[in-house]
Amino acid sequence: MSLKKLLIGASIASSLFASTAIAEPKVEVLHWWTSGGEAAAVKVLMDEFAANGGTWTDMPVAGGGGEAAMTALRARVLGGNAPTAVQLKGPSIQEWHEEGALSDLSEVAKAEGWDKILPDAIAKIHKCDGVYCSVPVNVHRVDWMWGNASLLAKADIKMPTTWAEFNDAADKLKSMGITPLGHGGQPWQDATLFDSVLLGVGGVEFYKKAMVELDLDALGSDTMVKVFDQMRKLRGYVDDNFSGRDWNLATAMVMNGEAAFQIMGDWAKGEFTNAGKTPGNDYLCAPTPGGGYLYNVDSFAMFKVDGDENQAGQKLLAKLIVGEKFQTAFNLSKGSIPARMGTDLSDFDYCSRRSSYDMAVSSANGSLLPSFAHGMAVRGVFSGAVTDVVTNHFNSDISSAEATKALVAAVKNAE
Ligand code: GAL
Repeated sequence: MSLKKLLIGASIASSLFASTAIAEPKVEVLHWWTSGGEAAAVKVLMDEFAANGGTWTDMPVAGGGGEAAMTALRARVLGGNAPTAVQLKGPSIQEWHEEGALSDLSEVAKAEGWDKILPDAIAKIHKCDGVYCSVPVNVHRVDWMWGNASLLAKADIKMPTTWAEFNDAADKLKSMGITPLGHGGQPWQDATLFDSVLLGVGGVEFYKKAMVELDLDALGSDTMVKVFDQMRKLRGYVDDNFSGRDWNLATAMVMNGEAAFQIMGDWAKGEFTNAGKTPGNDYLCAPTPGGGYLYNVDSFAMFKVDGDENQAGQKLLAKLIVGEKFQTAFNLSKGSIPARMGTDLSDFDYCSRRSSYDMAVSSANGSLLPSFAHGMAVRGVFSGAVTDVVTNHFNSDISSAEATKALVAAVKNAE
């Protein structure tokens, strides 16, 4: 055989070898799941990744709501050293795509049939210019109220169905020396209250106008004044030490009988579950007063990185996240419901089944709404501006009318 033929043969063999050699999948995952329930849930993903031959490097950044995690992400990307997989939310997925930072996941999406498995509304959030650029982990409901079952029984109080009922219940609890509302004083937690209060006081159309369309008339309306009035009421129902408290410590207050209620998304249920508590027995769940459903989808995006092992890791992680096994096991721990359609919910508790039912109903009647507080409704610059006003109002004595004016000004300035 001539030398030329030999060389050609060798080069075909080596290129074949290169394309068939299997890179060991690796990921470095940036997320903010550090509370007891969150850590238990993320461990489900770590274990499944490892069981499929992957190596996981964890990059947890503490801080509910993810603000600190997003600051850490920006620093890593600016340093030219993006993590391979990152927990992101709604519109921020698009913002990172516009920076050219995200990998194209269409190959896995096609192989796994994501278009057939994911509801259209959820698929849309995870596509950038029509191509999958991220994957959904779950659907959290934000407009939930959690109650300590025995405290409420002692006070002869049912889960309130209107804000007036809530205020009456809270006044009664206060007169009995019980803290009505477990709350952590951090801006994103104040914004979480605001989400539910605004939906309950203003209704579905008002929520859409004010929080999704940022309509200045709605933002500056008398209805908004009423929303801030109810926020002021809630401020009167929290204990003196709420400032700076983490959300999971506020959940623990409800768990331990130190507070009667918490208004928080169903990641709070992940805390109850992790502590071995069951709904109906130890605690009660009910949507906050008013109609509609505020959704908050957790997603992972894969950042553009070099290296076969990293890219293999991204593909494996994306595939596992949308897989049925993971969607069930993870969401049982996390308090949320699967993003994937048709997942069997028989192992889920009644709060989760209620969430799933209400989501289907609200999707059909147009009241399925993105959570403003959890970055699903508007881009970062606007949510930051609105959150500042909400938290300033909650932590000062300014009037509802002043806060409403400040809200309009903040949104105008952010434009
Ligand atoms: C939310 C996130 C949840 C939960 C919560 C508190 O933004 O969607 O998964 O982690 O923050 O950390």
